[in-house]
Formats: sequence, structure tokens, C-alpha cells
Amino acid sequence: MGRANSSCWTAWLAVVLVHWCLCVRERNRVVVEASHVVYESLQSVPASVVDSKLRTGYHFQPPKHWINDPNGPMYYNGLYHLFYQYNPSGSVWGNIVWAHSVSTDLINWVALEPAIYPSKPFDIKGCWSGSATILPGNRPVILYTGLDPRERQVQNIAYPKNLSDPYLREWVKPDFNPVIAPDDGVNGSAFRDPTTAWRGPSGHWKLVVGSKWNKRGKAILYRSRDFVHWVKAKHSLHSARDTGMWECPDFYPVALKGTRGLDTSVYGHGVKYVLKVSLDITRYEYYTVGKYYHDKDKYVPDATSADDNTGLRYDYGNFYASKTFFDGKKQRRILWGWANESDTSDVDKAKGWAGIQMIPRTILLDSSGRQLVQWPIEEIESLRGKHVVVEHKRIPSGGFFEVTGIDSSQADVEVSFDVSGLEKAEDFDPSWATDAEALCGRKTADVKGGVGPFGVLVLASANMEEKTAVFFRVFKAYHKHVVLMCHDPTRSSLRAGLYKPTFAGFVDVDIAKTGKISLRTLIDSSVVESFGAKGKTCITSRVYPSLAIGEDAHLFVFNNGSTDVKVSELNAWEMKKPLMNGA
Ligand code: FRU
Repeated sequence: MGRANSSCWTAWLAVVLVHWCLCVRERNRVVVEASHVVYESLQSVPASVVDSKLRTGYHFQPPKHWINDPNGPMYYNGLYHLFYQYNPSGSVWGNIVWAHSVSTDLINWVALEPAIYPSKPFDIKGCWSGSATILPGNRPVILYTGLDPRERQVQNIAYPKNLSDPYLREWVKPDFNPVIAPDDGVNGSAFRDPTTAWRGPSGHWKLVVGSKWNKRGKAILYRSRDFVHWVKAKHSLHSARDTGMWECPDFYPVALKGTRGLDTSVYGHGVKYVLKVSLDITRYEYYTVGKYYHDKDKYVPDATSADDNTGLRYDYGNFYASKTFFDGKKQRRILWGWANESDTSDVDKAKGWAGIQMIPRTILLDSSGRQLVQWPIEEIESLRGKHVVVEHKRIPSGGFFEVTGIDSSQADVEVSFDVSGLEKAEDFDPSWATDAEALCGRKTADVKGGVGPFGVLVLASANMEEKTAVFFRVFKAYHKHVVLMCHDPTRSSLRAGLYKPTFAGFVDVDIAKTGKISLRTLIDSSVVESFGAKGKTCITSRVYPSLAIGEDAHLFVFNNGSTDVKVSELNAWEMKKPLMNGA
């Protein structure tokens, strides 16, 4: 009996111990909950070499190692600042600090010392994402998520040490931090990424922190009079069921008319609001356009904006954890987004770098009021070098031509297609309407269509064994035509075992009326970043060719539909390399 008892006891203890160990392991993952895969053995292995073969030339990157979210972008006294999540000791996620770079034009970047790194009880286990706000009197302040010794996520404040240092090199984290801690109604391991604060008619400062409660994603609202004492509002600014953790929320006004961006605190007539969240469940971002009731502090998405993961996206590809800021210099709102690698962590370690920031985009409300439009900031055009033009070129069904005369591994390509005659457009099954990506996966560039697929083949090898297709395909629905925009990298590399997802979105244009559609694609060795119909639909992919590298990369225009299309104009520029953080 005694022995039986004791062996039962031992077995029970073993179960408890295993469970405890699993929990600790689980806790390391779940409490850390960075939504980044944690490779403990690779986290602190500094790069011994930096492989430049597929490194980008004009996208934002540090000289080596891992980066993720853009943090606290701002314009201050003549300089643009970009902070970002950075691992100083390895090419996978871990040891995160706020790296810091400055620029006069958002294109050429100078790296400074990290601005924020774990050093105090309120951030000793991590310095995660956050935002900058410029307080009255032109005083910048940062709010970021710290992980305390219990790995609770808390919100901290940091000020520049010396406002007369033009670079704002040093940041002070007062000992009264955290300024916002999770209370009983808040899940302390899902409570992060404070937004830029705004001031409404009441004069209070307000901000939201991303969170979830069970499976309900939430933007928890806080108010403050002095920016130091923050009080949680009774209700979230907004929440949505079954959307899971809301990372990196962003909330800002957009003008109904005109081409000016708005400061985050602007309100009144002629203004709509955008709420963007990065959904940890899908690893994609979604936004809604809606109305913000200042008195109740409630945001209500318009009926035209789906409030779930079938909704509108800034980018239908590899683009996450983005953040906008208001650029007072040019009165515009600018969007920064992060694209991770779609290669394995072992390859990331071997090449000594991982992750890029996408080319900053100006962001405006479309004239329909239903969606945003994005366009690469105009400064990028200063990198345009050698230029080729093609005009009035018909591409017959099944035809293609090569664009020669530039090194197209680093290029900016703009094409206008004339599409007249939609009679042969394929029928559109209404069940496809909520899943453009699946449709693109079935109807890839090699699948012949009626009108389209037509578009460009980028980072292609001479004989097209490798190619990434960027294209449109037009369908005929019951009462209108539907335009699908697609990235098809399924044949982008001869290397085996690569992750090569197709990405797609629908383009809200009336092609029967206009008879034309435009495409702009920024190509940069391992990045393809495309803007359909002047920025209505955007898609980013990471690709890793094995042949189509440097001067061996080719650019083609193709038409695999049974209807002829015409290139009314094509402009392609080779892109120069800017100063990039001393790399
Ligand atoms: C998004 C994210 C944020 C977090 C940061 C940590 O990519 O998981 O929610 O603050 O990265 O690096």
C-alpha cells in the first residue's frame, strides 16, 4: 500500500514536473508573446559575414542582423527619425533594442546609437514597439512597451535628454515609469504597442494600446491631462470578436478631400478616421475607415469596411507592424511597414541579416471615401538613374517582350496598360469575393485567361526558369467587372524548399469605363513592391532567385490572356544606392 502510494506519488510528481517544465517553456514563449519565433540558440550569434548577394540596395536596412517593427517615426527640427526593433547580437528575433537612424530626406540614412534598451525594472526584460508624439512647445516624447521582471507588458515614457542635440541621441526613461500598467481587466501578456497620442476637443491626450481578451481583439483607450498620469477609459476605442491579439494599432484622421495629410490631433468637418491593427493570428494587417465620436470616444467603422480579417489591407503581401506619422515638413501622412524574410532562420543566420523596412508611402483617403491610396514618397525619385521608355506596344495573346537597357535587379518600373474589349473576361464566382489570395493561388501567371493575366515578370532569369509575376486578371461578375491584382512568386527561384506564397487583392476600379490600368513595381534584389491603379492595391513579396541576381536579372512584360492588351507607356529606371546606415 505504502509502496503503491509512493510510486503513485512519484508518477504524479513526474507529471507535475513535466507540466511545470512545459509551462515554463510555454511561459517563455507565451509570456514573451512577441509573436516572433524564438530561436534561443541563434539569438546571440553575431554575424561573422554579411552576404550581400540578395541584400536590398535602397530599402531601409542596418548593416547587419535582425530587424522588425518600425517604431516612433517622426519629423523634428529638420530631421526624420526612424527607430526600429533591432537585435544587436544576431540575425533572428531577440535581445531587442530601439535602434535609431536619422535622415534629411527619408532616403539617405545615418545610424546612431540605440536610443532605448533594457536597463530599468520597467523594461529589463524587453523594449518593444511604440510611438512618438510631439507635445506643444515642440517637445518629442516616446511611449513604448517595456517588459518588467515578471514579463508583464507595461507602457513607459522616454524623453530626449537634450533638446538642443539635433540628433536626439540620448533618451531618458524617468523612474516614475511605467505610466500605464495592466490592471485587473487587462491581460498583461497581451498589452502592447502604444499609438501616437492625439488631443480631442476635451483637451485630454488619448492613446490606445493593443490587446485581446480571450479571442476578442481590442484597442484599449487611455486618457491623460499631463501625458504622465493615464487613466483607462470605461470602454475600448474599438474591439472585434475572433480577431485575436491586436498588435501595433494605429489610429489617425484622414481628409475627405485634397492631398494633404493630417496631424493626429486634427478633428472636425471633412475628416474621417482610420484604425489599423496587425493581427497576430493571420500575421497580416487590416484597416477600417470610419467615424470617431470624440464625446463618447468610440470609433465605428463604416459599413463599407469589413471589420475582420477579410477587410481592407494596406498591403496584401509581406508587410506587417506598420506605423504612420504626420510629416509637418510636407504636410503629409507617411506609412512605414516591415517586411520579414520568407527564408529559413538558418539562412538568415548564414547571410547575417534579416528584415527590411519598406519604402515609406504617402497615405491618403481615396476619392470614393471607402479605402486608402498609397504611393512611394516622392523623394524616392531622386534615386532614379538610367531610364528606358516603351510606348504604344501591343502585346498579343500569349506574347511578351523584354525591357532592356537597365540593370533591372534594382529598378522602379511604371506601366500603363490599355485594356479594350472585355468580352472574353472569365466569369467571376461570387464565392471568390472574400479570398483574392486563394483565387490568385489557383489562377497563377501560367494559367491562361480571357482578359489577363497581363503584367510584368521581374527578377527573371534570361530563359525565365526564374521569374516573379506581377499581374492583373479581369473577371466578369453579374453586374460589373472585377479586377484581381496578383503576385505570383511560385517560380521565383530554382532553390528548393523556399516559402513562395502567392499574394493578391482586388482593385476597386471601373475598368469597363476607363479601359486602362496602371502598375508600378519597385524591384530591389529580394523585394518586389507593387502599386496597382495608382496605389489602390499594394502587394509586397520577398523572393530569393538563384540565377536572376544583379546583372543577370531580366524584366519582361507579358500577356497570357486571350485578349490583346497594349502598353501605352512604360518607364523603367535603374535605381541608385542611397546612404544606408553606413553599410
Ligand atoms: C510585432 C511585435 C509587437 C512587439 C514587437 C516585439 O511584430 O510582436 O507586438 O511590440 O513585435 O519585437
